[in-house]
Amino acid sequence: MCGIVGYVGGQSALDVVIAGLKRLEYRGYDSAGVAVLADGGLAAAKKAGKLANLEKELSDRPLPSGTTGIGHTRWATHGAPTDANAHPHLDNAGRVSVVHNGIIENFAALRAELSERGHRLESETDTEVVSHLLAESFSAGGDLAEAMRQVCRRLEGAFTLVAVHADEPDVVVGARRNSPLVVGVGEDEYFLASDVAAFIAHTREAIELGQNQVVELRRDGVTVTDFDGAPAAIREYHVDWDASAAEKDGYDYFMLKEIAEQPKAVADTLLGRIDGSGTLLLDEVRIPPSELREVTKIVIVACGTAYHAGMIAKYAIEHWTRIPCETELASEFRYRDPILDHRTLVVAISQSGETMDTLMALRHAREQGARVLAICNTNGSTIPRESDAVLYTHAGPEVAVASTKAFLTQLVACYLVALYLGQVRGTKWGDEIGSVIQELSAIAVQVEEVLGTMEPVRELARSLADKNTVLFLGRHVGFPVALEGALKLKELAYMHAEGFAAGELKHGPIALIEEDLPVVVVVPSPRGRSVLHDKIVSNIQEIRARGARTIVIAEEGDETVVPYADHLIRIPPTPTLLQPLVATVPLQVFACELATARGNEVDQPRNLAKSVTVE
Ligand code: F6R
Repeated sequence: MCGIVGYVGGQSALDVVIAGLKRLEYRGYDSAGVAVLADGGLAAAKKAGKLANLEKELSDRPLPSGTTGIGHTRWATHGAPTDANAHPHLDNAGRVSVVHNGIIENFAALRAELSERGHRLESETDTEVVSHLLAESFSAGGDLAEAMRQVCRRLEGAFTLVAVHADEPDVVVGARRNSPLVVGVGEDEYFLASDVAAFIAHTREAIELGQNQVVELRRDGVTVTDFDGAPAAIREYHVDWDASAAEKDGYDYFMLKEIAEQPKAVADTLLGRIDGSGTLLLDEVRIPPSELREVTKIVIVACGTAYHAGMIAKYAIEHWTRIPCETELASEFRYRDPILDHRTLVVAISQSGETMDTLMALRHAREQGARVLAICNTNGSTIPRESDAVLYTHAGPEVAVASTKAFLTQLVACYLVALYLGQVRGTKWGDEIGSVIQELSAIAVQVEEVLGTMEPVRELARSLADKNTVLFLGRHVGFPVALEGALKLKELAYMHAEGFAAGELKHGPIALIEEDLPVVVVVPSPRGRSVLHDKIVSNIQEIRARGARTIVIAEEGDETVVPYADHLIRIPPTPTLLQPLVATVPLQVFACELATARGNEVDQPRNLAKSVTVE
């Protein structure tokens, strides 16, 4: 949510910052802006809309060149997405410039105070108060880093701030509280960004910034302190992917590339975690087996797509471990006063590792004494840093706003946790656990198979481009798959899409069925839990009798569904609990193709941002 870049070094700051913003545009695309220090002054440009608008502005009215600069791509919170509200924000003298991600909760009081002292504030944003406060503190003496510390001590809320001052031409200062910010370390050059993707083309060496820290970047080094000025330890790390991982590689959209990368993402997430004898090796989960044996309850917290992964995990965890498990929307969790203690294991699932709702949920859980295990795709991000343990998914960078490969790897990680708990606790499903581990090892190949059969799904999607509504039905783990299919369609195709537990249909939603309404049904395997299968086949008949156009996702060889399917999408046979790994893929392809057919922006759907760092 909002992307921030800062640079000091020997290159053209504008070029570095614009290239970085392109990599961060997934975080918000309501407006973009830059500021550079040049010729003893500060020059800035900003424009509402996508980064392309700013680039046009810069080619019409070029800025002077300089080697220190900052930039911002915005997801609007306070104030409409206009030129005036775009970042950076300057003080009245035009000497200090600030970009911000987050929400400054006490901005109204600060604004009133500044106005009384004669400052003219020109935007509706919460951010602008910071540039004025920084200007005041700076002119009272000291340097920009000290001014930033003084200002941060006055701010309430969550923020990442990056600022430059015309009187300190080779310095960029950043601050963070509850919002992401990382430092990139180059040769005589340093970068600041919300995400390493912004500087990965220049360096893979990075420094994590902790909560309530201020960083000063100069060409010759970096200083990190807390908000009171006490020096902080510098935690360096190496980014284990390179710039090519964040390129489209010939695909029209990142989403298409990320869908195609799923077999590799799944295989990478399993890599090194199952030994030759089929035993799980999760030493990286630093919670000792003795403590895991004491767990009496598991609570999964997550948002959006990650929440759907958590819903599926509940089925797997309860089945293989016999430990009661609840899955809860992170945004609701702490407000209902949940019952937690030291024997509760909270699993926080997040691709970005920065989702504020999930972060607040895990903090609440830890305050109540629960242990927290993060499942996360982003090394060094806040959620794993604040958890007791972490199991990283290895999806690589996910750039498209709609989550695809991260979801599949979250599922894999959830299965690993469930199976590992089952293994450690020795439940009655010991044999089943062994065979499922084997089948999980083979799942990447099956995901690949599904991807090879998607042309009819794309064709079907195109034929439905003028529909207004699509419903999705499932039972058991197929229910969260249905929810995920509906979420993908809403966010990408901007269509009314709803997922239901098929058994709930007769309790109300069946009234929605009308002639030719497309209804996607996820059918469980006829092997194993055949009751479940038979019940959903009845549900298909019920909706078809009322005119629905049925789009049936069913296992190869399941002939019982054939008479009732207007469209049939085949998936390979898998154990029931693992079926979401193959059943979700056609739904991702379906939503992506429908969005394209409707002329929508696939990678950057309207109103959304990839990393939601406000509650
Ligand atoms: C939907 C989507 C979102 C995210 C949600 C949580 O396609 O991507 O629903 O899943 O915002 O994000 P993370 O996983 O980063 O916490």
